[in-house]
Amino acid sequence: MKDKEIERPPAMKVRQGIQDAMTYSLPDKTFSENNIDLVEIDIEIKDLGWDFNNFKILNLTDIHLGQWINPEYLDELIDYVNTLNIDLITLTGDYFSYNLEDYDESLEKSLKKLKAKYGKFGVLGNHDHWMSAEKIRNIFKKSGVIDLSNDVFTLKKGENYLNICGVDSYTVCADNLDKVISKLPKNIPSILLAHEPDFAKESSQTGLFDLQISGHSHGGQLIIPKFETTPFRGPNSTKYPVGLYKVGDMIQYTSKGLGTNSFRIRINCKPEITIITLKTNKKRKIKIE
Ligand SMILES: [Fe+2]
Repeated sequence: MKDKEIERPPAMKVRQGIQDAMTYSLPDKTFSENNIDLVEIDIEIKDLGWDFNNFKILNLTDIHLGQWINPEYLDELIDYVNTLNIDLITLTGDYFSYNLEDYDESLEKSLKKLKAKYGKFGVLGNHDHWMSAEKIRNIFKKSGVIDLSNDVFTLKKGENYLNICGVDSYTVCADNLDKVISKLPKNIPSILLAHEPDFAKESSQTGLFDLQISGHSHGGQLIIPKFETTPFRGPNSTKYPVGLYKVGDMIQYTSKGLGTNSFRIRINCKPEITIITLKTNKKRKIKIE
């Protein structure tokens, strides 16, 4: 889809001005791993080959660079991520909010630094389309991020395979699940990256994906203690706004994301880095001599 076909929210210039005023009117946000919620979850995947057992995927989402999160913060965060010894990195969209021009070089520099043994893969969010999908895809290219917008990449580890798939942003109607399915090698476990969590309603119905990883909601920027959910649910994150869900046979995971949109408020809802460790349900066959 061409950028000009995307329906943008009104008054983009005003939104950009408000963003800048808010960002510069408060002291700089500084990165500290103590202020990050490092969420580590194990997810059992049916028929996952033993070579992928304990495979670690780290997801970053909703950076919203330039709106509260400054380039130095992101750079330090990436340095921290690089210490975590990860197999694969996934990025689930909204790299910017309303200002790309002042931050595109910083994003490229930071993404370029990200290291993972089996590569880094990304999809776009609604804000990325409102800014410029073309420019963000170009940043991906220059920083070694594989663009999974309506695409599939099949990983091989030892004798086993795993599909890493992605759909483009559902909010701006750039998603094309049929295209993903047409490229999908069958009978291989598959993980889907989708910016908007409520896309799980559609993707789960195919019966082709074991896990969908999303962001978009920011956890509502407020999580009610004990209930561990949020009353603030924007479009396309009303059903699965935060954490783990079972949708049909598929597991949905929604991250609280790193950045914030509009106000610099996160109540009981720290910025999140997610590490998903894949586990097989297969029994290991041991030969008795
Ligand atoms: Fe979003």
